[in-house]
Amino acid sequence: MYTKETTTKKKAPIRKIYKRSEAFRIPEWEEIKSFFTEDDQACMSSFGIDLWDEESVRENAAAIFDEVSKGRMPPANPWNPYMINSFFKWWKQSTIGTVI
Ligand code: HEM
Repeated sequence: MYTKETTTKKKAPIRKIYKRSEAFRIPEWEEIKSFFTEDDQACMSSFGIDLWDEESVRENAAAIFDEVSKGRMPPANPWNPYMINSFFKWWKQSTIGTVI
């Protein structure tokens, strides 16, 4: 039988608050750039995408996100969820209030 919860809610532990603010932090380009290795950069340059150039990565962000989030790129060395999420936030930062 359903009984109404009467206990008072506990406050969130401090570490949870830190975690939440980390989730909303927008990464800098320098951090995103560090995700791309020398091999990645060299390889993709021949396809017209310079992974160490902010403009080039912005222009190709949709295709890049598609590849890394599906684990197709970089080949045999998939990004972890932190990297994928960081890339997404960096890419969508101007509309972040509406997408998260
Ligand atoms: C994080 C690193 C990388 C990213 C973000 C990335 C991104 C991409 C993207 C967006 C495409 C599709 C281009 C299009 O739509 O025309 C692509 C294709 C391709 N990439 Fe990468 N790439 C990365 C690393 C690499 C590396 C290290 C290699 C090879 C050493 C490589 C080899 C290729 C090849 C051969 C293709 C074309 C063939 C295909 O479509 O599967 N990539 N990559």
